[in-house]
Amino acid sequence: MKQLLIVQGLGRSFGGLKAVNDVSFDVLPGEILGVIGPNGAGKTTLVNLISGVIRPTSGSVVFKGDAVTGMAPSHLTRKGLVRTFQSTAVYAARSVRENVVRGSYLKRYPGFLASLMDTPDARRRRASSDQLVDELLARLGLAGVADTAAGSLPYGVQKILGIAIALAARPQLLMLDEPVAGLSAEETDQVRDVILRVRESGVTVMVIDHNMRFIAGLCDRLLVVAAGEELTRGKPDEVLRDQRVVEAYLGTRNVTAGIA
Ligand SMILES: Nc1ncnc2c1ncn2[C@@H]1O[C@H](COP(=O)(O)OP(=O)(O)OP(=O)(O)O)[C@@H](O)[C@H]1O
Ligand SMILES: [Mg+2]
Repeated sequence: MKQLLIVQGLGRSFGGLKAVNDVSFDVLPGEILGVIGPNGAGKTTLVNLISGVIRPTSGSVVFKGDAVTGMAPSHLTRKGLVRTFQSTAVYAARSVRENVVRGSYLKRYPGFLASLMDTPDARRRRASSDQLVDELLARLGLAGVADTAAGSLPYGVQKILGIAIALAARPQLLMLDEPVAGLSAEETDQVRDVILRVRESGVTVMVIDHNMRFIAGLCDRLLVVAAGEELTRGKPDEVLRDQRVVEAYLGTRNVTAGIA
């Protein structure tokens, strides 16, 4: 199977600190790949490097067969690579629908001139964008709160909204940075179901999290990083039983999250 994403020898230093050091992996179309590792392991930096938020000091990223190393996030979004952030990034005072519409314009901007002129083409594009937003809200269970201000929603629903905003840009690869951090067990299960539905809809997923129960119940494969480097990779049940992985997590905040 042809890889959707190929990361080769990726590295990034901050001063003397190698936050990400010579990391290589790929993401296959249709899979859910989990990236785990203790606090400060370099997981967010890895996503920042791939999504163009920061530039690598070494290595390369290939997406859909094209070299995209160091390209701007807006370019990568248009190409189909979209990420969410570790903290929720919603416009609190805006409705759920308005937040998702904003996400859809990240990619499907109708064109400034065309919308000024209100051409049939601009109207058609707006209509298809509205339809996409309605479909997304329904698929992610947000239709009932479409007109509610995002900031007044429970945190778990805001996290799902963050995923909806990202999906509105129609990604082929969605990268989620800690989508269930701070959520209750019930909310975590809801987010897991949402991500499984996202995958069913044909979107490939790369997800970072510390919650082992969540990760084990969701991912096809895991990549474990520690101190900026790959520790191991493989099927979740094998990886989570690996003594090196258990030790990497000892003393960190989520040992109690249940490494089985
Ligand atoms: N912009 C930056 N400037 C300097 N150091 C940074 C920067 N970004 C990250 N780091 C450092 O790089 C290392 C990796 O950080 P990163 O945020 O990628 O870890 P993480 O695996 O996402 O951790 P967490 O599980 O806590 O989210 C840490 O030591 C961090 O302090
Ligand atoms: Mg992080």
